[in-house]
Amino acid sequence: MDLKKLFGYEGKNVVITGAASGMSRSATELLLELGANVYAIDINPIDLPVKEAFQADLSKKEEIDKVMRELPEKIDAIFLCHGIAYFPGKELQVQKVNFYSQKYMADSLLPRMSEHGSITFISSVGGFGWQQVYDKAVELINLKTWDEAMAWYENHPDLIESAYVFAKQCLESYVTYKCMSPEFINKKIRLNAINPGDTITGLTEDFNKSTSPSGNEKEGEEMINNIFLKSWNGYAAKPEDMGYPLVVIGSDICSYMSGQLIYIDFGLTSSWTSAALLQNNQKSIEEISKAAND
Ligand SMILES: NC(=O)c1ccc[n+]([C@@H]2O[C@H](COP(=O)([O-])OP(=O)(O)OC[C@H]3O[C@@H](n4cnc5c(N)ncnc54)[C@H](O)[C@@H]3O)[C@@H](O)[C@H]2O)c1
Repeated sequence: MDLKKLFGYEGKNVVITGAASGMSRSATELLLELGANVYAIDINPIDLPVKEAFQADLSKKEEIDKVMRELPEKIDAIFLCHGIAYFPGKELQVQKVNFYSQKYMADSLLPRMSEHGSITFISSVGGFGWQQVYDKAVELINLKTWDEAMAWYENHPDLIESAYVFAKQCLESYVTYKCMSPEFINKKIRLNAINPGDTITGLTEDFNKSTSPSGNEKEGEEMINNIFLKSWNGYAAKPEDMGYPLVVIGSDICSYMSGQLIYIDFGLTSSWTSAALLQNNQKSIEEISKAAND
C-alpha cells in the first residue's frame, strides 16, 4: 500500500496557519513529507521549506485579506491553528485570533475549495461545555461582516470575559453548526476540530503565566498540572501528538468524517463527562426516591 496515496496530499494545495511553532509546525513537517504544496501563515517567520510562507497578523482583517489574495485559486485542505493565551485586557484580541479570524478565513476561502476538501481547526479542551453557549455562538456565526461581529463582541462583555474558553467554544459551535450547511455539504467539504489537552509548545509559558492569578509561571504550571494531569498521574503531550492526528483528520484517510470535535487528551474530558453523568444519575435517583417518599 502506498501510504502517500492513502493520505492523498501529494500535489495538493494546503493552507495552514500558526505554522511557525508547536502543533501546527509539526503538522506542516508531516504535510511536507507527504508531498503537499504547503502555503503557511504566521505572525512570526516560518523556517520550513514550504511552497510559500506568509508573515501576517491574523487578528487584523486587512492582513488576512491581503494574504488570502495571495493564496492559490484552488485549495484542497485548510488547517486553522493559530492561537494565543488570554491576559486581562486582551478579551477582544483573543476572540479575533482564536476564533473570528478562523471563521472569517474558512468562510472566505470556501468558494476556492475543491470538492471533498477539508477544513480542520485546533480548538481545545478549554472549549469543553460549548453546548452551554451554543445559541449565542450561532448568533455570532450568523453575522454577515467582520465589523458586525466586532460590534457584537463589544455588546457581550459577559461572554468574552471567559476569553479563551468562549473563543474555543465558538470554534466547536462553528463545526457543529456548519458541517451540514449547504455551502459546505453541497461540495462535500469536511469540517472538524481537534481539542488538545495540555501540550508543551510555544504557548506553554504564556498559559502558565495567565493561569496564575498573580502571573507567577511556577504557580500557573502547578495549577495546570492539577487540572489536566494530576487525576491520571499523566504527562503533557508533545506538539506532534496533536499535529500528526490533525494531518490525518484533514486527509483522505478520514474522507467520511465531518462535524467531529475530537478530544486528544488521553481521555481526560471523557472522565469529566462520566463523573457528571454519574452525579446527575445519582441526583435523579435521589429526586425520584424523594418524590416517591413525599
Ligand atoms: N499548548 C497547549 O497546551 C494547547 C492546548 C489546547 C489547545 N491549544 C491550541 O493549539 C493551537 C496551536 O498552539 P500551540 O500550542 O502549538 O502554540 P504555539 O505558540 O507553539 O503556536 C501557535 C502559533 O500561532 C501563531 N500566532 C499567534 N497569534 C497569531 C496571529 N495574530 N497571527 C498569526 N499567527 C499567530 C504563533 O506565532 C505561533 O506560531 C492554538 O490554537 C492553541 O490555542 C494549545
